[in-house]
Amino acid sequence: MCGIVGVLSDKPAAPLMMDALRRLEYRGYDSAGLATGSGGALDRRRAAGKLSALQDVLEAAPLPGTSGIGHTRWATHGPPNVENAHPHVAGRVAVVHNGIIENHAALRAELIAAGASFESATDTEVVAHMLDREIADGASPEQAMARVMPRLTGAFAFVVLVAGEEDLLLAARRASPLAIGLGDGAAYVGSDAVALAPITRRIVYLEDGDWAVLRRSGVQVFAGDGTPVERREQISTVSAAMIGKGNYRHFMEKEIHDQPEAIAHTLHAVIDPGTGKATLPPPLDTAETVAKITILAAGTSYYAGLTARYWLESIAGIACEVELASEFRDRKAVLPDGGVAIAVSQSGESLDTLMALRHAKALGQKVLALVNVPESTIARESDGVLLTRAGPEFGVASTKAFTAQLTAFLGLAVALGAARGHIDAGEVLRLVKALEAVPGRVADVLKDTGPYQIIAHDLARARDVLYLGRGLSYPIALEGALKLKEITYVHAEGYAAGEMKHGPIALIDEHVPVVIVAPSDGWFDKTASNMAEVRARGGKVILLTDKAGAAALGDGADHLVVLPDVPSEVAPILYTVPVQLMAYLAAVEKGTDADQPRNLAKSVTVE
Ligand code: F6R
Repeated sequence: MCGIVGVLSDKPAAPLMMDALRRLEYRGYDSAGLATGSGGALDRRRAAGKLSALQDVLEAAPLPGTSGIGHTRWATHGPPNVENAHPHVAGRVAVVHNGIIENHAALRAELIAAGASFESATDTEVVAHMLDREIADGASPEQAMARVMPRLTGAFAFVVLVAGEEDLLLAARRASPLAIGLGDGAAYVGSDAVALAPITRRIVYLEDGDWAVLRRSGVQVFAGDGTPVERREQISTVSAAMIGKGNYRHFMEKEIHDQPEAIAHTLHAVIDPGTGKATLPPPLDTAETVAKITILAAGTSYYAGLTARYWLESIAGIACEVELASEFRDRKAVLPDGGVAIAVSQSGESLDTLMALRHAKALGQKVLALVNVPESTIARESDGVLLTRAGPEFGVASTKAFTAQLTAFLGLAVALGAARGHIDAGEVLRLVKALEAVPGRVADVLKDTGPYQIIAHDLARARDVLYLGRGLSYPIALEGALKLKEITYVHAEGYAAGEMKHGPIALIDEHVPVVIVAPSDGWFDKTASNMAEVRARGGKVILLTDKAGAAALGDGADHLVVLPDVPSEVAPILYTVPVQLMAYLAAVEKGTDADQPRNLAKSVTVE
């Protein structure tokens, strides 16, 4: 996590960096800081808390200089105070860093024994001291980098500014993302291309282990062993126009409302709108011989994987396991020859998922990336890519990326089912038509958010909330609970409805709202029995269902939401929207920051 940025320009660096950091604040907002070089010296401003606090500091004490580095922090080592805010400075060297230097304790002990004194509790500061020592011993900044890089272990990206070197930045990446931006007589670096979008779309992505020397005249890249390498310049697909909030109060609200479009665009990446034909990306293009699919993901993306398992089994007739990336990477999983792993990630940068992907490769699996960022590390390390076309997602709580993942997975299941002969042409047509209708039904739900406002009022005041669902609705119950807890801090749990009687039922009393996700599908009657069990214990039922479900059960609900009728296969996509709205409106009611909830960051690039 953490967002990092570096600028070599002919304009003042501080405003350019603040602008880029605003687009990186989703990566962490515990503290922020900038350092610039001017007149042979380094100057630094830092503040605890969000970027707005740093802005106040800068207004009182502006930073001169046209070269600089900046940081927005998600704390790992050391509390989120000013002392631990980046940039960290030792002698002539300032460093901003994302990720973890795993051997920092040994390096710190060695540096202290050699006389260094530390100002912070961070792992980052060792890098500043090590580079400064090399430079003090007569090395050039480039030589210092070449000597220090092999001594660092872990997954990280960092950018270095050296006093007296106002046409130089050094940048390095190992596993954590880093994008270099090229300008006319200018060079930039940032944690992602979105940060740099308003200043340049000419991007060079560093590969794992690379480090680079940036000057206004150009960029030189070195591989981990210090040999110069060529890295291709690309034009980023992200434009400045895609990254505003529009008239919405929060990015999350905008992104919930972006969903009809995000779903439609994603669908057409898998299914040709003219012919209705679904295409399979490699390595799934040899569908008949794929032995098994293993889905690897974290958080909300993991819930998309749990939903996909139902589709892949029933529509494509293919064996499927879904693994939490952080658990899978340390397991000696037994996977078949000819198996395919699908790494699912909005950002394409979650370190847990990246490490799980590498582990799956080592276990002989081919890998498909299902990501929202085409240039991301997970996309680049996979054998094939299926893009969700949700557009940039800034709200820390994932919304449109999730429904886009569901759409891509269902399209994929249909394409696989057709290719493997598991479903016939009529069934393909029925499912494609069902998918084509989803954007319209989602737009219908979004037309009137009034009912959710009333429910949100109750949820915002609850101590505990349960979400129940069966079959395809079970992962949506999990997702609903995650959305509520992460942005409102209300304790919420998602359960398989049939599992409730095995323990969680003990939690139910008249103070516990229970959200039941129950379209009238093949699981409905059993869910109805579980709802009766909740009612019998005084629980408050919030029922999400369709017309037939409302006719059967509506009388037993304290709040009833009737959603449009849709074929059961696409219901998870539609039923996600109410659980998102309820959580978002509860956060607004409580006054928590829906876009930047406490302790979280959007792109989790630490393990
Ligand atoms: C929850 C949320 C997280 C992410 C998770 C994985 O709203 O956003 O749980 O889903 O951190 O992130 P990606 O999909 O970028 O790998």
